[in-house]
Amino acid sequence: PTPDTWRRVDTYLTELLVGHDPGLERAVEEQNDAGLPAIEVAPVNGKLLHLLARMAGARRVLEIGTLGAYSTIWLARAVPEGGRVVTIEAEPRNADIARANLERAGVGDRVEIRVGRGADVLPTLEGGEPFDLVFIDADKESNTIYLDWAARLGRPGTVVMVDNAVRGGEVANPATENPQIIGVQRGLEMLGRDPRFDATALQTLDAKGYDGIAVALVV
Ligand code: DHB
Ligand code: MG
Repeated sequence: PTPDTWRRVDTYLTELLVGHDPGLERAVEEQNDAGLPAIEVAPVNGKLLHLLARMAGARRVLEIGTLGAYSTIWLARAVPEGGRVVTIEAEPRNADIARANLERAGVGDRVEIRVGRGADVLPTLEGGEPFDLVFIDADKESNTIYLDWAARLGRPGTVVMVDNAVRGGEVANPATENPQIIGVQRGLEMLGRDPRFDATALQTLDAKGYDGIAVALVV
């Protein structure tokens, strides 16, 4: 398909199935106005995260990589009363923007932002109740570290999703020297090989272009 075709289809599907949410739309505006990169998930992808969380009956959700909290709001809208989303953000300025966006969206009470690098914050979450769903969308170089923690902080049945699984097709380039792509490749290899997971991945063409999402179950 030409970009014109899949962009039209993305708009069509988004208008039909995603609809409008002032909290989500304001979060994107604030993130853009603050000069953060426009790398939040596409609306159709945010809704997928939201639906998977509801399908899984998730009460405790872990997100690695908050940015402006766009996907965080989607996940927070999926957890029931008394549920919780813990989201990890390395950049304090992003966390401030995310906090304001969460409050404006009316989900500030159920979201906890932990500021710090994933590799430092994740060990501090040990010993709590297991997470029912984990969404990994941070520095790609650390995907295997994040997957290891997803398995450790989850339980059999935990749903794990990894954003940016395809990166414009570069994921299938074995000669790549891009450390982010190599990180994505190592993560997918781990999902294929590590007996703690059963996984698949889908290519996606949406408002964010050609990328993909990996979906795994902790077994
Ligand atoms: C980048 C990171 C993301 O998580 C994403 O969804 C798109 C792009 C990036 O670092 O370029
Ligand atoms: Mg991403």
